[in-house]
Amino acid sequence: MAGAGRCDLLIPTQVHRRYRQGAGLKVGAMSIMVVGGAGYIGAHVVRLLADRGDDVVVVDDLSTGVGERVGDATLVELEVAGESAQERLELLMKERAVTAVIHFAAKKQVGESVERPTWYFRQNVGGLVNLLAAMENTGVGTMIFSSSAAVYGNPDVDIVTEDTGASPINAYGETKLVGEWLMADCARAWGLRWSALRYFNVAGAGWPELGDPAVLNLVPMVLDRLAKGERPKIFGDDYETPDGTCIRDYIHVLDLAHAHLAALDHLGGGETSDAGEHVFNVGTGTGASVREVIEEIGRATGMDVSPDVEPRRPGDPPRLVASPDRITEALGWKAEHGLSDIIRSAWEAWQAGPRRIERVAGTSARAGADQAGPVDT
Ligand SMILES: NC(=O)c1ccc[n+]([C@@H]2O[C@H](COP(=O)([O-])OP(=O)(O)OC[C@H]3O[C@@H](n4cnc5c(N)ncnc54)[C@H](O)[C@@H]3O)[C@@H](O)[C@H]2O)c1
Repeated sequence: MAGAGRCDLLIPTQVHRRYRQGAGLKVGAMSIMVVGGAGYIGAHVVRLLADRGDDVVVVDDLSTGVGERVGDATLVELEVAGESAQERLELLMKERAVTAVIHFAAKKQVGESVERPTWYFRQNVGGLVNLLAAMENTGVGTMIFSSSAAVYGNPDVDIVTEDTGASPINAYGETKLVGEWLMADCARAWGLRWSALRYFNVAGAGWPELGDPAVLNLVPMVLDRLAKGERPKIFGDDYETPDGTCIRDYIHVLDLAHAHLAALDHLGGGETSDAGEHVFNVGTGTGASVREVIEEIGRATGMDVSPDVEPRRPGDPPRLVASPDRITEALGWKAEHGLSDIIRSAWEAWQAGPRRIERVAGTSARAGADQAGPVDT
């Protein structure tokens, strides 16, 4: 379970040893704290940072993350929303001479957030509060934050820009929007430099061993059902869209990871973001319908993916597609992978994992209880 640099407790000598080991880092390399770096998206960013020579310390409570995913980076097991977290974060920031924080750690299940709103605020907002307070006290001035398209709720526009009004419809989306507000307040109060990346529908894998381990979003949900010998489900095929199913903007997790490096370098490079440029959509500008995604999975897997069509679920907007113009203009970032790359890489990752599917063309279908739909986290 333990990654090469894992520290179960924040013991200064252990941390210091790792830091001194990093003395051979290339000139200009940054010291980055990646909070939630053992998770699906965070692990991709950890790998890119380490590959380019930055010093990386991962803070993660492993509630949904996996230690092995951080590779050789130091892993400090810590619950950032916990009572003594701020103090321990401050110690770690000083020991590692941290220059910037990338904050992924959050609970991300929309339905759960509706059932447990106080816990979601305590986890997602409480964790951010501890981090920002520790940053203020130790002079760490740069933060990149995982926000979400969930801040937009059900926008009545074809293409969502950052100026489309934020109007979340669940506690999860609210915690992300409150996080953005809090960082804007810290910028005013003590000069925090920050960016919030509003991810659209993240899928795929940059490396087969870094696939999405959760079965919460459309692509893993379909693969999960195929693995069980069940048909994929479509929730509603009577929407006002060309094929009647919901349309989403699918972004390859590796493209998304590169967007974090672009944001980090932009802020770390001493450029001052304009007031309106703290928040960036991360999407492709192109939508794919649930049916198209399922068909693409059929092509990649060679399996029969004929879906069962169920009634609509409440709260699913028909279409949610990002305008990526702002991030392209401000940071020079653009998605490089399309839907077929996303699905192919997700399939390779699935097949490299513990639930490898022995392919049987024309898979027979059984009714199952699991849901599959364009879940927006
Ligand atoms: N996956 C998506 O489609 C998607 C879409 C939009 C936004 N996001 C956001 O991106 C971020 C990362 O998502 P992910 O898909 O990689 O999720 P994930 O669950 O795989 O990763 C989250 C990581 O944070 C850790 N963590 C959670 N709570 C913690 C706490 N209190 N203290 C310390 N560590 C904690 C987990 O152990 C895990 O390693 C989240 O903030 C999520 O809300 C994800």
